[in-house]
Amino acid sequence: MKGIILAGGNGTRLSPLTKVTSKQLLPIYNKPMIYYPLYTLLSAGIKEILIIVSNDRPGDFMRLLGSGKEFGAKFTYEIQDKANGLPEAFVIGEDFMDNENVAMILGDNIFEDDFSSAIKNFKSGGKIFVKEVSDPERFGIAEFDNNGNVIRIEEKPKQPKSNYAITGLYIYDPRVCKFAKELKPTWRPETDITDLHNKYLELGELSVEKVSGEWIDAGTFETLFKATELARKKFHDMNRWDFIMKK
Ligand code: TTP
Repeated sequence: MKGIILAGGNGTRLSPLTKVTSKQLLPIYNKPMIYYPLYTLLSAGIKEILIIVSNDRPGDFMRLLGSGKEFGAKFTYEIQDKANGLPEAFVIGEDFMDNENVAMILGDNIFEDDFSSAIKNFKSGGKIFVKEVSDPERFGIAEFDNNGNVIRIEEKPKQPKSNYAITGLYIYDPRVCKFAKELKPTWRPETDITDLHNKYLELGELSVEKVSGEWIDAGTFETLFKATELARKKFHDMNRWDFIMKK
């Protein structure tokens, strides 16, 4: 399994902070934001990671993270010229994936859970992770039937059918590169990751797992603050990366 951290975007909701630096380099307690999704991938045993950044400050990411050696991993960097949507990660990342499965995580998502077994047990198709939230109209939302199978996914629904938000960690097989290339932009000038989930859903190959620990999308001032509180409480072992290197 390979890994992608998608850390481009505009970060307009965090302006003026994001006029100074990229969103994913902003501090969350005592680490830059991108350390947290990086930690999620590394602690799940993923060693080859593509970091996709905008053309704004690629040097800052490389200075911070380097070759990956320090983390017992290998990092590759690519630039996304414009924020054309999340699915473009699988177009930019096609050569890097080289026909292997991939776990993609958003550079502003902070998870408490350990995804080692989900990643180890993944064979093919698509897998997404959901978490119950109180403000479902802000997210992609999964609707379930009585047996707990996902039947529909809606992007930011006005009348949500459930409170289960789709978090920013996705596991896909290599077909995702082809599917991503076929997507058309939505009413916005970008493509939508919900369309990729729906593609796997139509094929009957989308599985869904609930996240039990905390999950924060740190893209607003309020959630950035919450992420800092979570990191202060829960992420002490991030001061040691050596246990990851032994995995
Ligand atoms: P968003 O938070 O949806 O977008 P954004 O980061 O541009 O922020 P804002 O809406 O405030 O302008 O993006 C989620 C994550 O995905 C974030 O880490 C940035 C990344 N991203 C890309 O790398 N490329 C893209 O084309 C998009 C849309 C997002």
